[in-house]
Amino acid sequence: MGDRRITALIAVGVLYAGELRIPLGLDRYMPVPDSNPLRAESAAVGRRLFFDKRLSRDGSVSCATCHDPKRAFTDAEPLAVGIAGRKGARRTPSIVNRGYGRSFFWDGRVASLEEQVLKPVTHPDEMDLTIPEALARLKSDPAYPPLDERAMADSLASYIRTILAGGSPYDRYVQGGRSALSADQVSGLKLFRGKAGCANCHVGPNLTDERFHNTGLPGEDPGRFAVTKREEDRGAFKTPTLRELEVRAPYMHDGSLATIEDVIEHYDKGGKENPNLDPEMRPLKLTTREKADLRAFLRALTGTVSEGLQ
Ligand code: HEC
Ligand code: HEC
Repeated sequence: MGDRRITALIAVGVLYAGELRIPLGLDRYMPVPDSNPLRAESAAVGRRLFFDKRLSRDGSVSCATCHDPKRAFTDAEPLAVGIAGRKGARRTPSIVNRGYGRSFFWDGRVASLEEQVLKPVTHPDEMDLTIPEALARLKSDPAYPPLDERAMADSLASYIRTILAGGSPYDRYVQGGRSALSADQVSGLKLFRGKAGCANCHVGPNLTDERFHNTGLPGEDPGRFAVTKREEDRGAFKTPTLRELEVRAPYMHDGSLATIEDVIEHYDKGGKENPNLDPEMRPLKLTTREKADLRAFLRALTGTVSEGLQ
């Protein structure tokens, strides 16, 4: 029975976007702007750009340097490292399933992928190249069609929409595969949805509400406040997906938590007291056993990552 449902889901995914295969567990509908329909040729150009180091001033860094496919499109650095070892202010987020995103960057300062994707190219601590310089470098390369700024942004955005993570033991369990999770993991799932309150924010197919919360991490980063100028948004950051956690330590916007065990301790303590702490953050008083079960459950959120259109 489980298998038939899986086939149906994939079939709908294929119908929806031509060749986009939606892995088990994700929403079959991905919002794509009318101005930039998902096309195989465009996504393929975007993929080429994503791995092209010529988009950085000294030719040493591509998008994939920080968003490494082997690590669910992030890296191992607590804070991003761009050209010439320049250190950024935040951790590189995983960009799996961002096609479902409503706003981009940790503070949500950008409203679409088309608007987001060229910002790292010009950012002085990341790739540090102007767009005209980038276009001039690619102009004589027959591997690319003629590109302007708009075509470059559209194709990178299309490629990012194809980067999907799903098909985890958790997804199989939700689809009715009762043996997909161990008994410890099932207990952990109950805690995740109940006593530990994780699902208050990490909710839905991509395990994020796409909203902003202050989870009581130390540090001076204003987070969402920089966008809204509302005091209550100070220190709030966008809820990240929890998919593929196992391959993408360290965690949080500042990369300050080295392991998943550290993350669980952080939530168990309820985060650092501060005026904007989210009301859902409170000491959880989890037992050692409960922490272990929650840990076991989080392991079930790692499945498969796919990219590109076949
Ligand atoms: C030097 C490392 C680095 C490079 C190179 C880099 N990024 Fe990023 N990326 C980051 C960091 C750090 C953030 C978060 C920044 C913030 O929130 O202020 C980010 C955020 C993003 C996001 C938003 C994710 C979300 O969940 O909101 C996307 C999409 C993205 N990058 C795509 C790209 C693309 C496309 C390129 C190449 C053109 C690229 N990145 C190059 C480090 C990098
Ligand atoms: C109030 C909303 C909220 C609740 C409740 C919550 N989270 Fe989070 N979670 C967030 C936000 C927001 C972030 C990013 C915080 C930051 O970096 O400043 C985050 C980050 C994480 C990360 C790091 C992911 C990454 O990409 O770096 C993990 C792991 C995580 N949460 C697991 C959990 C678990 C397990 C629970 C339950 C014990 C939980 N969360 C409860 C909102 C929440």
